[in-house]
Amino acid sequence: METTVPARELGFSIKQGVNWSEYLDYRPVYPPSFFDRIYSYHAGKPHASWSVAHDIGAGCGIVSASLAARFPNVIVSDPNPGYVSLARQLLVERSPLTASAQFRFLQEGGEKSSVESGTVDVLTACECIQWTDLAVAIREIRRGLKVGGTAVFTHYTVPRIIGNPLAQHAWKSIWNEYSKRANGPLLDHAVQIINTALDCLEFPRDEWESVRRVHINAQGDPDNYRIDERRRESRVQGWEEVVWEEGDEDWAEIQGIQWFKGYLATWVPVIPESEIQDLWEVLEVALEGGKVRIETPLTMVFATKRA
Ligand SMILES: C[S@@+](CC[C@H](N)C(=O)[O-])C[C@H]1O[C@@H](n2cnc3c(N)ncnc32)[C@H](O)[C@@H]1O
Repeated sequence: METTVPARELGFSIKQGVNWSEYLDYRPVYPPSFFDRIYSYHAGKPHASWSVAHDIGAGCGIVSASLAARFPNVIVSDPNPGYVSLARQLLVERSPLTASAQFRFLQEGGEKSSVESGTVDVLTACECIQWTDLAVAIREIRRGLKVGGTAVFTHYTVPRIIGNPLAQHAWKSIWNEYSKRANGPLLDHAVQIINTALDCLEFPRDEWESVRRVHINAQGDPDNYRIDERRRESRVQGWEEVVWEEGDEDWAEIQGIQWFKGYLATWVPVIPESEIQDLWEVLEVALEGGKVRIETPLTMVFATKRA
């Protein structure tokens, strides 16, 4: 007998306005130091092995591409239709650089995977965990990992403008408008999670160890991750390690008006430029035709599967 499960809307879908070429052009590029942080955490384990990486919520495979330089086997998974096909094109068909890794492409979400239990060394969930049912996904991620394997959850949020308060004020007004439009159950869920800088991810102590939460370029203040007031309760526990790192130049850039417009368009729901033309004009005036420094707050949460 067939059972019908009501379809839950997936986050970050084409229907919501995702455009991968804009994403590639305007989102921050993951710098080598991002991967160094992952690899040095994993290398710190007494029996770390380096055979299989799994990149969930992989989208077009940006993080998977770098993992392929370190792991001979990379699983690339994403539930939205068409995304892993695009990743396959970019990683295998058009890229001689990553051709030496063995890729496995799976159209599936973080909550239910076909990956065999206890087979993954390092799992990455970058800019995607907010779209999942957190507790279910964290349990499923643990199932796939080897004992001693590493799970890494990362999220970078909206950059702030440095040294030009008028421009920062105008940029904030644009995000206030985004926040008004990012509503409904799916976006409420996602925004709450990113607003807590992933502090709402819970790692039961009998299942996980060595949890390390690293906050980069957040000026020591969790509020610097928030785009609005929506929140979730923190699940950070006393035994976990929390680290604040400031002044990371790998997450700073110099950008002008076209970039700000392009960057906003990479967030769903997408706001057509014409609908907030007045707000863009205020930012444009504040920038006086020039460029400004931006700094992006980033969170990386590391956890090790306990036996
Ligand atoms: C902003 S993109 C991140 C892409 C890539 N990981 C990166 O860091 O650039 C978010 C991704 O999460 C995926 N996603 C949505 N729901 C998901 C779920 N339940 N489990 C895993 N990924 C999901 C979307 O399909 C999308 O590709």
